[in-house]
Amino acid sequence: MASVEILTRYRDEITRILTRALEGEGALTRLLRYPMGLEEPDGTPGPGIGGKLLRPALVCFSCEALEGDLKAALPLACGLELVHNFSLVHDDIQDGDELRRGRPTAWKVFGTAQAINVGDGLLVLALRTALEAGEVLPPATVVAAQEALLSATFRMIEGQVLDLGLEGALDGGVKEYLEMARKKTGALLGCALELGALAAGRPELARAHYELGETLGMAFQIRDDILGIWGDPKKTGKPAGGDLLRRKRSWPLSYALERDPEVRELLSQEPVPVEEVLSRLAVLGTREAAEEAAGCYGERARELARGLPWTPQARDMFEELLSFLAEREV
Ligand code: IPE
Ligand code: IPE
Ligand code: MG
Ligand code: MG
Repeated sequence: MASVEILTRYRDEITRILTRALEGEGALTRLLRYPMGLEEPDGTPGPGIGGKLLRPALVCFSCEALEGDLKAALPLACGLELVHNFSLVHDDIQDGDELRRGRPTAWKVFGTAQAINVGDGLLVLALRTALEAGEVLPPATVVAAQEALLSATFRMIEGQVLDLGLEGALDGGVKEYLEMARKKTGALLGCALELGALAAGRPELARAHYELGETLGMAFQIRDDILGIWGDPKKTGKPAGGDLLRRKRSWPLSYALERDPEVRELLSQEPVPVEEVLSRLAVLGTREAAEEAAGCYGERARELARGLPWTPQARDMFEELLSFLAEREV
């Protein structure tokens, strides 16, 4: 994984708590260990906890940036990462994707019906893990954090509803896309920085941290969309091209649909002529425009961060993260 400090500094601690949360016997717990990377379907050890662990790292980061105690942030961080994994298991069913973190998706391995149970189990485990914050934080803070986590999870699911609603729709453009992305991805990234502020005992800064995380989430999702079309599956661990075949309303497709009636015509063909769509996207300079749009949100995030009372070290770490996210290929 990238050697960005925010992504490496908390990784071992987060991994330890997630691994512990997924210990134990029982048919459901065993299934949950598969998408989390801890176990293979045949019961042998998996590759280990996967993904960038960006969301839990951001919880730990904003807590420390406000001079809070890392221990206070960890249960909330791990709860949020489990919510994220719940969303991915259900998202892969909804998107029909067969590869996640370089391994077959849960529904490919267990079937769709059982993968719904896996997602449900991860969500409940997430909320239980976040409640362990009660051991390190005062009750009023735990309630505020639960409220933040539940609201963000609801918003994320609403984003998924909008995402599926837009799939295949050939009218509308970037505006509808942005509303959807703000919810499906912005909500959990916003919640990440918000939870860190709450854990640091700074509830008056929760809202500003949410706003920053949400803005970061927009840049993050536009980059994800770029990788979904032009990325290397060997690096992303996810399929490329599927978004176009499924007429997924990514930023690039929203942009192209808004500008070029021919794209609409190509997308109404069955199956979608992916190579021809890619050529139109190239003619329209879509990739460059998407990178610029992601860059604008990155710049806005930089401005919002300037207004927060973070330590100087935290400012440097955040700057490094912004550069990484602008160019990431994973
Ligand atoms: C993937 O998120 C889903 C999106 C919101 C784009 P990540 O890119 O953070 O996934 P992992 O956890 O690192 O695999
Ligand atoms: C990201 O969805 C948002 C959630 C999973 C809630 P995508 O469908 O855009 O993300 P990937 O590309 O499958 O990770
Ligand atoms: Mg998906
Ligand atoms: Mg999706």
